[in-house]
Amino acid sequence: MVRESWGTRIGFIFAAVGSAVGLGNLWRFPWMTAENGGSAFLVVYLAIVLIVGVPGLLAEFVIGRRSKRNPAGALRRLAGGSDSWGLVGLLGVFTALVLLSFYSVVGGWILRYVGASATGAYFGNPGTYFGSVDFGVEAAAFHVGFLALTALVVAGGVRSGIEKATKVMTPVIVVLLVALAGWAVSQPGAGAGLSFYLDFDPSYLESHPVSVLQAAAGQALFTLSLGVGTMITYASYLGEDNSLAFDGSVIALLNTGVGFLAGLVVFPLLFALQGGLSETTAGGGPGALFVGVAGAFNQIPFGRVLAVAFFGVVLLAALSSSISMLEIPVAYLVDEHDVPRRAATLGLGGLVLVTGTICALNPGLFTTVSGPVVDTLLTAGLAGFLVFTGWVLGKDALAEYGTGSGALARSLGVPWLWSVRTVLPLFLVWTLALSFL
Ligand code: TRP
Repeated sequence: MVRESWGTRIGFIFAAVGSAVGLGNLWRFPWMTAENGGSAFLVVYLAIVLIVGVPGLLAEFVIGRRSKRNPAGALRRLAGGSDSWGLVGLLGVFTALVLLSFYSVVGGWILRYVGASATGAYFGNPGTYFGSVDFGVEAAAFHVGFLALTALVVAGGVRSGIEKATKVMTPVIVVLLVALAGWAVSQPGAGAGLSFYLDFDPSYLESHPVSVLQAAAGQALFTLSLGVGTMITYASYLGEDNSLAFDGSVIALLNTGVGFLAGLVVFPLLFALQGGLSETTAGGGPGALFVGVAGAFNQIPFGRVLAVAFFGVVLLAALSSSISMLEIPVAYLVDEHDVPRRAATLGLGGLVLVTGTICALNPGLFTTVSGPVVDTLLTAGLAGFLVFTGWVLGKDALAEYGTGSGALARSLGVPWLWSVRTVLPLFLVWTLALSFL
């Protein structure tokens, strides 16, 4: 069977931006920022996206386009049939399933909140409402609903499923978010939120340098979908005429822009209407979106309409990311074991149905998996991909990087390769070591 590919160059960009833009930007980024000192975190995070994120993204693109394979098949083949490198890729396939298990639970919350916004179900007491729906049988049911939507797109294939869906979803997300941000910053009292978010105050960074750096690194990898092989898989459907460096820069820029916009929506809402970051809104992560922001909507005119729009955007963003997670193991079964796409989607969907349900019933497990477990797996995975690109592919990586790219991008090839070989993996291993200490 002929392997699938993207129909258009822009189709790849929309799909990759769709993958990158997700709950990481709209749900995780605001509360990471809130927990780690506000503006100072933002600066460190932006630096890491630029210095580690973009080169890492390009490394995954190089592996994917060169091999035209899922992560496990890609590393094994490119290393001349090495089973140990194959295992590094297989770790990515496994991580994707872990990731989707908890992501789909949060996706289920969002799905529920779109409906609950329309009826105003949580308007009376957002904190109590969220506390009663976050885990349990109903949460599991909504997780299954979200997962089914994800599987439906993936079953459609690369061009008529993923590309078609994300080509609509991604622009809608950006436009609606710009509109929401414009509205949020013009709310009376928004200034306090903006200054928390944007006025650079290094004092928190000075007193917690290591934890801020770690959190920023984890967030940068998560938001760019790195370390799992999502970008390997998406780039494996690419033709030779895309400039990887150009596409990668556009993707990173759009993703960062959306994260930034999400902060412009969330912080003004929290400060203008909720009076700041209370324990419930900043602590424990999920609260910021489902309690703090949700609570703001009941205090404004047209609150229901705005709330539906807001959670609708979050839902689209979450879906365009979750399909990129499911696509990894699906591509693995299709490429390596000749399983038909629909059967692979159905089987893997069934598996995540179970693992996600376990997460939806166990708050403790959910918290561990969505935080430290995922951070560790992503960091280790990306370190592996970087070492592979730098030392196993080496000159071939440089050639692949150069294919289809312009003069400026090509002149950055050698520094890119050296950073991929040395500084970047060392940085990741260092953050990994810190998290174990
Ligand atoms: N980047 C997405 C987000 O911000 C999540 C995501 C999709 C992801 N695919 C991934 C994260 C692969 C890590 C690895 O929500």
